[in-house]
Amino acid sequence: MTGKNALFEPIKIGNLVSSNRLMINAMECCDSDEYGNPTERTYERYTKLFKGQAGLIDLEAITVTYDSRGRKMQLSIEPHNEKALEKFVSQLRKENDKTLFIFQLTHSGELSHPDFSRRVTVKHLPGFGGDLLSEEEVDDILDKFVLAAKICHNVGGNGVDLKLSHGYLGSQLLRPYNDRDWKYGGPWEKRSRFAFELIERVVKEVNDPDFLVGSKVSVWEGFPGGCGAASPTTAVMDLTESIDLVKGLEERGAHYILQSAGSPSITLALSQPDKAIPDYAYLHHYFSKTLKENLKPETVVIGSAYSIFRDGKNNLQAVKPEENTLLYWGDKNIREGVCDMVALGRQSFADPFVPQKLMEGREDEIDWCTACDNCIELLIRQQNVGCTTYNKPYRDALRKIREEEGKLKAKRT
Ligand SMILES: Cc1cc2nc3c(=O)[nH]c(=O)nc-3n(C[C@H](O)[C@H](O)[C@H](O)COP(=O)(O)O)c2cc1C
Ligand code: SF4
Repeated sequence: MTGKNALFEPIKIGNLVSSNRLMINAMECCDSDEYGNPTERTYERYTKLFKGQAGLIDLEAITVTYDSRGRKMQLSIEPHNEKALEKFVSQLRKENDKTLFIFQLTHSGELSHPDFSRRVTVKHLPGFGGDLLSEEEVDDILDKFVLAAKICHNVGGNGVDLKLSHGYLGSQLLRPYNDRDWKYGGPWEKRSRFAFELIERVVKEVNDPDFLVGSKVSVWEGFPGGCGAASPTTAVMDLTESIDLVKGLEERGAHYILQSAGSPSITLALSQPDKAIPDYAYLHHYFSKTLKENLKPETVVIGSAYSIFRDGKNNLQAVKPEENTLLYWGDKNIREGVCDMVALGRQSFADPFVPQKLMEGREDEIDWCTACDNCIELLIRQQNVGCTTYNKPYRDALRKIREEEGKLKAKRT
């Protein structure tokens, strides 16, 4: 590594090279058309991100089936979307052909929205519900993931992120809570079956050594029976299964692991540390370091939850402002083996050009994310998502929907 900030060094991922260590994390924005294809707004967002020159971009959670999805206007990756996705990728590559582009494949499971799709579950979780999935249905979902990976390959994507995090189906199956006696639950060997069969099949059936395969994982979800808990009834952290998961993925061909934590519909501040609890960001350092220590050096570990560090103006205590920034922690953590790359979520909404500005030494021009979490409120409300702090249309949309809700409440009382 040279003397410059480690974030700006290239890194090999599988047979490909990311030109720097900054990744754009998967960020759902609810702006597809009625068939799950990208709209003008989707193009606009990703065009900016491609111009921003991150080494790697993870396309937001794209559903492998429109029948069970979390967002009304969620991007979809089924055979009918192939043409539109091909156009999308080729258009973005014209902006910048260096940035690697992977797709986050997902099934929403118990987070599918019952108002417009079928909510399904592996075992009823209090407050969620849904139809109990049969073994045959999960077999079918696995086929859909594999088909989606092939579509991603066909349309020119550089790889896939098989989503095993944040409470979506991939992680629901892994949880100790999934102690139902069936092919995909009970002992760890059965709870991990879906993840391991999926990666094995994707590697085998896509059959391209230059196609990247990896997963975003919630190392510890932070609630009883969640991923990384010691048993179905405790939240006590025991990372044995999370470590076994990433090692198993690596053995089966994963080139990278995107570390995360929490399950946003249950433990939001853990997934995305906010103004009130910025300190949770430090937990992510522990999680990515644990993964690094258990994986081969060539498996790229990408750390999450770095938006809170920004330019040091956060609520973190007992640290010097200059030793508390995105640039500082990115450089330090990469050099010290805590992670190999750093993913940006909310910061990529606040300023999609952040990698370019950082590389050009223009930190003063960056619109820093304030971790207000208004963007996630838009997502929860099924609206087009963007940064309300720096983007007036999104700010106006949120204000309007809050006002309308206020009027409705007033009428009811
Ligand atoms: C509006 C919004 C949408 C998100 N969509 C996704 C998604 O599609 N897939 C995913 O894995 N995580 C998603 N996340 C989580 C982020 O990718 C990231 O893990 C989290 O925000 C922490 O990173 P940050 O502190 O840099 O924001 C989303 C977060 C927000 C706020
Ligand atoms: S809305 Fe708030 S949390 Fe979301 S990107 Fe903008 S500043 Fe960050």
